[in-house]
This record gives sequence, structure tokens and C-alpha cells, in this order.
Amino acid sequence: MSASSPTVPAPSRVVQRCLNAACAAEYPVSIPLVGCRACGELLDVVYEWPAAFPTNFWQVIEQRGLTKGGRAGAGASLATDSALDFSGVWRFRDLLPFYQDARQIVTIGEGRTNLQRADALAKNLGFHVGDEGGQLYLQYEGFNPSGSFKDNGMAAAFTHARMVGASRVACASTGNTSAALAVYGALTGTKCYVFVGDGKIAYGKLSQALEYGATTLQIAGDFDACLLRVRDIAENHPQLGVYLMNSVNPFRLEGQKTIMYRILEGLDWRIPDWIVVPGGNLGNCSAFGKAFLELRALGIINKIPRLAVIQAEGSRTLDTVYNKLGLRWTPSRCGDVGKCKSCPAIRPLDTTTCMCGTYDNAAVRAEYERMNRANERAHTVATAIEINRPVNLPKALRALHAMNGVVRVVSDDEIVEHKALVGRYGFGCEPASGASVAGAAALLREGIIGPSDTVACILTGHVLKDPDVTIGYHTGVNAKASAVDLASCKPTGRVSNPPIKVADDISAILRAMGV
Ligand code: F0G
Repeated sequence: MSASSPTVPAPSRVVQRCLNAACAAEYPVSIPLVGCRACGELLDVVYEWPAAFPTNFWQVIEQRGLTKGGRAGAGASLATDSALDFSGVWRFRDLLPFYQDARQIVTIGEGRTNLQRADALAKNLGFHVGDEGGQLYLQYEGFNPSGSFKDNGMAAAFTHARMVGASRVACASTGNTSAALAVYGALTGTKCYVFVGDGKIAYGKLSQALEYGATTLQIAGDFDACLLRVRDIAENHPQLGVYLMNSVNPFRLEGQKTIMYRILEGLDWRIPDWIVVPGGNLGNCSAFGKAFLELRALGIINKIPRLAVIQAEGSRTLDTVYNKLGLRWTPSRCGDVGKCKSCPAIRPLDTTTCMCGTYDNAAVRAEYERMNRANERAHTVATAIEINRPVNLPKALRALHAMNGVVRVVSDDEIVEHKALVGRYGFGCEPASGASVAGAAALLREGIIGPSDTVACILTGHVLKDPDVTIGYHTGVNAKASAVDLASCKPTGRVSNPPIKVADDISAILRAMGV
């Protein structure tokens, strides 16, 4: 079955649209934008599909999943059907059809990730495991080419960059975005600029950006400061033609929707009860909400899972806004057509849900001012989610509304403990991913997640991202691992597994082996 399969309707119109219902300005997809020119709010990529999708849509995807070989080079300027079918992003291309010609699509074989049922971990956390019991799944996004979920978004954003003829791309990053940007840049021959905070990037990640040839600028400041700068360059210096690759770019989020499609695929198209994800700049959770709203509007699903966004105690802006200040998203209604132009985007089936809406923007701004006055700066061991002002906050509120969501915070100790548990029972993950499992455990204890629920925790990055944190947990060493004598340290973690110092002597070695 090919991309032009007659059973799947193509959109009759694709635009970028402001999600502020009072504005709802529209822009063609042919121009790169990072915000609404009229009101500054975030933009969505919205599709007007003329009809519902066929009920056998997932069969189309399964056919594509059978592809073998015959692929062009990674990042090639002419994508083949088989390269697109091989990609865990573009296998679902009918659900993100913003491109004019499928041959323009950029793919490096991203999204071939792994949904693993994790019974041993589930038991440890207190789930009822068994045929009748709950099922905890881990979605290992660290298996992407650059080692994190970011590749899903980069595939889409680089496709858009190619569509608009961008020759320079840039991002601010705590690590994973820079690695993803740099690898796509290297494979497509695009000039890349990476802005990282001073001392705020994990070494494994910095090494990737350098290795793949990105120009890396270390700015005296944190992630928020870097993002402000790079956004300023993209928005206010258009003559430089620098295309912004952070998740404020709506095309990035189109690619990240596919993480949800792959979870459904891994569950044989069953809908889980819960999706649990760490929240930093809130791009992922925003993309997940949009994915499910669209699937429901297209008649492909009739139930939406609940969403849990997990933040670190020391980096909890969404938690404050959602749980303390009680801010909520108010979606527009199709009755508002004329005032809200967004509704036609999903009109075929769903006449009650709209992509745009409103929230108390002034309260968010006031909270940011309060944080500034109090000199409150995000700080957590999970540096990937160490972010003060998450750019996708409005879209995250929309996702929480659409998915009947909750927001929780977990401590750094819980993060590293649960990261270690994931490693002990599986393929491992980096710290921010540990937050999603720690959050699932906390919600289970609270009784919000039931012990027999089906839960998918997103592990956003690879275990090798932050070796200092991992070595620190297993040895008790709180410094660069290579600089200290690991064996003399006293770890305190529940599943710490320190190396054993032993003389070069056979009986001592056998004793240490415990055999
Ligand atoms: N998990 C990992 C491993 C990440 O790298 C990030 C973000 C997140 C979670 C947060 O995701 O923004 O969608 O809520 N890392 C960015 C970076 C900031 O620069 O690599 P979000």
C-alpha cells in the first residue's frame, strides 16, 4: 500500500493557525513562524480533512511496517516510499500531512522505538500484574538515532525547513535537542547552530553536537536565556534566515504526535488508561493532546487516555499554574464559528471540540514576574526538564483538558531511584525519564492510577545521556566519575550497585564474585 492509498483522505487545506480563540489568525505553511504575528500566541498546524478516515486505517500502517530495505541514504533529498515506511514517524504520514510532496520528507530512520511491557518493574511499584491485572509499559524513545524522542520532532521540522528552503537551523538546548539537531544537520548538509547554557549540558550530549559538526555556542545563562536569544534571532532578524528548531516550532510537535501512534500500535490499537510523560518545555504533552484530539475527530478512536505530566520539585512551573493557581484551558465551541475559525479543522466528525481556546494569560505572566522577583530558578538533577518558562504551556493546558490530565511533581531522589529501577528491570533511561516512572508510582500510591490500569510511561532519553548521575547513584560519588576512586564510595540508593574493589588475586576475586 502506498502513500497515495485511495482509502485515506488527504487534507483539503493545511494552515498554521493561532491557538488564541480571540485571534485565530491563519498563515500558510510555506512560511517559517515561531508565533502568531498578530498576537504572539503559539501556532498549530491544522488540517481540514474532507472526511473521516477509513476504519481499516491501522491496516494501512501495518502494511507499511513490513517494509524491508530499498531505502535511500539517511537524510536524502528524495525520500523513497520504503524509507518513509521504515520511519516510525512517516509511517503515519497521513496524520501529519503538512508537506506538499512526500519526496521532500526528511528521514534518517527515526522512531523505530520500543514499547516494552515491564511486569517486574510494575510489581515493584505495586501494580497488580497478571492476566487480569494492570499493565505497565515503557516507551523507550532513547532508541532513536540521536538517543532521544527529539528525533521524532526533528524529522518533521527538518522536512518543513526543507519545504521553506532554510539553509541554517538553530536551537537552544539542555542536550537532547542539540544532539538531534546536529545529527539531522549532518545528514542533510544543513548548517546548524546550538545554544547551550554555561555548564548546563550533559557531556554525552555536548559530545554529539560537537561530533556532528554543529557550531556550538555556550551562553552565560540557563536554557531559558538561550531560548530567548535564539528565538530573537529567528524572529527579529529574518534577513539571516535562521530557522528555529525548538518545540515552539509547531512542525516539531507534528512529529512528536507519532509517539502516541506507536504506543497504540504496540498495544494492537488498544487505548491505554494513562500516558505518563515528563514535562519540561511541554512540547511532548502538547503534541500528545493534539494527536488524540485529531484521532478522535477523524473517527479512528472513541476513547482518549488520561495524561499525567510529571515535573521535578525544583522545576515546577506547570504544577504551580495548574494545581496552585488552578488555571485551565477553555476550548472554543463550534458555535463560535466566525469568532473562532479553528473549528473547521476537525469538523467532519467532532462538532464539539476545537483546537483553539483561551486561558488566563495574565495570570501566567504574573506568575513569571513573581518568580523573577523571588529569584526562583529551576534546579533539578533532571537537567532536561530544568526550565523556568515552558514555551508550550498553553498547549499543555489544552492537552490536560483534552486528556482529563493531572500534573504532579517528584523529588530528585525519587527521580534517580526510579531511573535506577528502570535500569535494573530494563533497558535504562536518563533522569527526566525516571520522573515519569516516579510520577506513575506516586499516582498509584494516591489511588489516581489504579493497580489494574494500563499505563504507558514515556522514557524520553537514553540511559547514556547523563552518566554522571548514574555513576553518582551507584557509587555515592558526587563528582565527575573519572576523577575519583569509585570503589571507596558509599552509595545510599535502594538499588545502588557499586563496583567492588578487589586485589589482583584469584581467591579474592572469587570471593568478590560471590561464587
Ligand atoms: N526528557 C528529555 C530526555 C528531554 O531532553 C527533554 C527536553 C524533556 C524530557 C522535556 O520535554 O520539553 O517536551 O516537555 N529537553 C530539551 C533539550 C529542553 O534541550 O534537549 P518537553
